[in-house]
Amino acid sequence: MREELVNRIEIDLDNLLHNYQVTRNHVAPAEVAAVVKSEAYGHGAVPIARALQEQGCRTFAVAFVDEGIQLRRNGIPGDILIMGATLPNQFRAMADFALTPVLADMERAEAWAQLAQQLDERLPYHIKSDVGLGRMGLMPEQGEEAAATARALDRHIELVGISSHLSYPSGDEELNLSEYQKFMDFCAPFEDFEGLQRHLAASQAAARFESMHLEMVRIGGLLYGINHIEPAPLDLRPVLSYSTRVAQVKTLPAGWWIGYNGQHPVTEPTDVAVLPLGWTDGLASYHIGSTDLLVKGQPCPLVGTCTDFAMLDISRVSNVQVGDEVVLIGTQGDAAITAIELGKGAGMSTGQLLGKISLRVPRLYFSEGRCREELSILNPK
Ligand SMILES: Cc1ncc(COP(=O)(O)O)c(C=O)c1O
Repeated sequence: MREELVNRIEIDLDNLLHNYQVTRNHVAPAEVAAVVKSEAYGHGAVPIARALQEQGCRTFAVAFVDEGIQLRRNGIPGDILIMGATLPNQFRAMADFALTPVLADMERAEAWAQLAQQLDERLPYHIKSDVGLGRMGLMPEQGEEAAATARALDRHIELVGISSHLSYPSGDEELNLSEYQKFMDFCAPFEDFEGLQRHLAASQAAARFESMHLEMVRIGGLLYGINHIEPAPLDLRPVLSYSTRVAQVKTLPAGWWIGYNGQHPVTEPTDVAVLPLGWTDGLASYHIGSTDLLVKGQPCPLVGTCTDFAMLDISRVSNVQVGDEVVLIGTQGDAAITAIELGKGAGMSTGQLLGKISLRVPRLYFSEGRCREELSILNPK
């Protein structure tokens, strides 16, 4: 490991694979498609996909075409679903890299079929329906018509899956069951398509509703040990920890200010630790006043953030030195901060928070206690 590392994210690949197995057992015989979009929620798409693939995962889901190309260029085999909004000018690139689009309407399926004819290849595709999220996808009543078009195009393109996404998976059971029913109604006219993969559930629905596993589930959070349901429905282990080191210690006098634009007034002499990371590294102005980080196992309030710096009030901890470890996500002594808590401090979902941590924070991959790989701006994938 490089001696000069200060900010670091450590990824425990053994725990990732444990979570994958636990999830797989929970949803079997349904297949687990690993959601590795947004750099696998900040964990690093390529090392995560590679570890999962070695463990038998054969379907990966991303949002953007470039994310799919990144996986292919790094040798990830299997099905790579592009779940996001794809436009016809991206179709050729998807075909060239054997990526599978999840198409939002049948006009796009026609364009995909035209390309298939040109290439003289029967290209695979999924379609998506909108059951309540109000974003891309066919409306529930369009199932019949979509199935007829899929049948007409079947010579050129192969419909392998139908997907949808629940709008409020942590919410009311009744709402979730009604969205599930809309999905099943949409899928009903496709009965004659053999081996179709229906996939609706992401982590929360997969954990909560067995009936929604169908042929496949698309899982991000559970793989990364992120659980929002109490009591925890699965035996998940934490995968990511995030730490930095104290860069300067100082005592600020009453009447001083911390941060830009008078972010935090100093009303009494305050011991402050300056940290070498900021907005580019997952922190936000909204964290000020709502978030503690750990120093010597003690929670210390965050009192300032800038692009590259953050300031902690360490008044309640004695003898803090330059170089001492500060934990943003993970455990220190008996204390712990989860990614969910750090996100909540700034009103962000966990995926939002982790996706905000730029690659200038090196990701270090551990298995059996040893660092096996680094992903960083010096070692990009
Ligand atoms: C369409 C779709 N499927 C699956 C997922 C994975 O969600 P989770 O991380 O809750 O498993 C997402 C995440 O945003 C998504 O947008």
